[in-house]
Amino acid sequence: MQRIEEPVTTYKIGYFVGSLATHSINRTLSKALIRLAPPELEFFEIPIKDLPLYSYDYDSDYPAEGRALKDAITSADAVLFVTPEYNRSIPGALKNAIDWASRPWGNNSFTHKPSAVIGTSPGSIGTAVAQQNLRSVLSFCNSPQMNAPEAYVQFKPDVFTSDGEVVDDHTARYLRDGSVQRTVGLG
Ligand code: FNR
Repeated sequence: MQRIEEPVTTYKIGYFVGSLATHSINRTLSKALIRLAPPELEFFEIPIKDLPLYSYDYDSDYPAEGRALKDAITSADAVLFVTPEYNRSIPGALKNAIDWASRPWGNNSFTHKPSAVIGTSPGSIGTAVAQQNLRSVLSFCNSPQMNAPEAYVQFKPDVFTSDGEVVDDHTARYLRDGSVQRTVGLG
């Protein structure tokens, strides 16, 4: 009997890395997630580092960086935030990017754009407070969020290679399926 191949639907995921640091552990986590994701998901980064600081003075004439940010979000089926926790919140650079994307008034790029949140820190709460802060910002921005599983990842350096290979099976399963305990130490 002839097998009929089902067409595969792919989804474009635009991801934000909330850290500007060269050796960001959240960038490493983003690489790991891309490696572990199902083939139906195509990832592209939405860069934030060259955005000027937002002011509504720009609203009448967005600069190229602001327009590129909004176009990138529009072209994504969903967005993923991979963010550190800075002082119990999200880094200023990430909040700045969200402010840019949410404006000009009436042209909020997050409206009805599905989002998901994850992050890692060396500390044991694994960005939990920053993620809650971010969720409330995204709620205001009218982005429907993936509520479960939550993922608060304590970073342990011996678990990842620098290009995001996860060498521990338990951690890899958790990042792939969310099917084991919610907070893991990556080690
Ligand atoms: C931190 N760090 C931190 N960690 C945490 O768990 N909770 C926090 O509130 C903070 N606050 C904080 C503020 C600032 C300004 C810095 C620079 C750092 C530590 C942070 O988790 C650690 O530096 C991570 O390496 C940051 O992630 P990236 O930038 O490496 O991805």
